[in-house]
This record gives sequence, C-alpha cells and structure tokens, in this order.
Amino acid sequence: MATNTLNSPQIIQLLDRLSIEADRSKPALQAVAESDASHLLTSKTNYRQFYGLLKDIPLPVSRETGNLLYMLTRSTRAQHILEFGTSFGVSTIYLAAALRDNGGGRIITTEFEPTKAARARGNLTEAGLIDLVEIREGDALETLAHDLPETLDLVLLDGAKGLYADILKRVEASLRPGSLVLADDAHHCPEFVSQVRSDEGRYLSVPLAGDLEMSMRMA
Ligand SMILES: C[S@@+](CC[C@H](N)C(=O)[O-])C[C@H]1O[C@@H](n2cnc3c(N)ncnc32)[C@H](O)[C@@H]1O
Repeated sequence: MATNTLNSPQIIQLLDRLSIEADRSKPALQAVAESDASHLLTSKTNYRQFYGLLKDIPLPVSRETGNLLYMLTRSTRAQHILEFGTSFGVSTIYLAAALRDNGGGRIITTEFEPTKAARARGNLTEAGLIDLVEIREGDALETLAHDLPETLDLVLLDGAKGLYADILKRVEASLRPGSLVLADDAHHCPEFVSQVRSDEGRYLSVPLAGDLEMSMRMA
C-alpha cells in the first residue's frame, strides 16, 4: 500500500497539538485584527511591524488547505518547492510529508521572525521531515534574491500579502511550464491577482477553496 506520511502517529499528534495552539491564539489574533495596526496587513513597506505583533501567533493554513497542499504536491510529483511564510511550519509539514511520499525533494521556506523560524525547525524535526527543508531566515525579498533552484514545481505564497507580486517576480524564472503557484488570502493582494489572471497567457489562474488562488505557469 502507498505510504501516507501524514498518517504517522508522530505527525497526527503534532498537527493536533499545533491546531489546539492555533485555536488558543485566536483571541490574540482578533485583538491585532481589531487594532490600529490592522491596515498594515496589506502594506508593502510596514509588513515587518505588522508581523512583529503576530510573532507569537501561529497563523497556520487550515487542515483542508494543508491536505490540499499534500494532494497537489503528490499529484504533480513535485520535488522542488518554495514557500513564502513559514511561521511555526504547519504548511511546511504538509508539503514535506508529500515530498517524502514522492520519494524525496527539497523545500525552501522563508521566515523573518527568528523565534518562529526556531519553532518551525523544532516542529519539522519532531515530524521527522527536517532533512527535506531549508529554512531561510530573514526577509524573503532578500533571502530569495539568490541561490534559487533551477526549477520549481510548486510555490506557496503565505507571507506578507503586499509582497506576493514581488515574490512571484523573484522566483518566476525558476517556474517550469506546468508548475503551480498557490496564494493564500490572495484577495488581499490585487496586484498579484491581476498579474496571474492577466490575459498575457503566462498563467492560468482560478480562485479555489475559500481564499486560495491557484495559478499554473503556462510557458
Ligand atoms: C500566515 S503566516 C504563515 C503560516 C504558515 N504558512 C503555516 O501554514 O503554518 C505568515 C508568516 O510569514 C512571515 N513573513 C511575512 N512577511 C515575510 C517576509 N517578507 N519575509 C519572511 N517572512 C515573512 C510572518 O512572520 C509569518 O510568520
């Protein structure tokens, strides 16, 4: 029978624990959402300040989105993945589990809050998946400016919303025809949405599963 790393007891327990942690942090998240800083969510310049307020809050993708990431990684037989926005590493766990079940590969993931990068490293180690993951610490605009893989099969955008279009430009040269770009809460970045839905024929793009935009590189 085919392996499903997500069903391993250590990952089930870890994802359950991280889900409880995320539920407990909802009041703190709500407080930031209702504060004067909420307008910084889509900022292209003050995103560091905004995410500083969220540095102890996990902000993970939902289980449904996590399972979708696993399925898309498996079904496309992806080997090279890039993630913008690691946080505590929940989405990275789903992606890395799929890489494991694909027979191997590598994820580059990016996080500028040092305590979050450390927690992600701990969680990925506990999941037994850290050997597939490179965590680039620092602002992704800088850490993705060099040493990208020649080819990327899948990109997940889940960091500062105002930067989606800029991050896509950074990594675009590595996207092979047929590769997928998934953008969480893409409606917060109209510049990105119009980029991937434009009629230049470089992407085919559809809104999917709530707030997720899925785009395929055409050529
Ligand atoms: C929504 S959370 C990511 C959640 C994660 N994908 C998951 O499912 O567990 C966004 C994260 O991106 C980080 N981030 C935002 N902008 C960034 C940037 N420019 N460079 C690096 N990290 C960034 C934030 O600190 C935050 O932890």
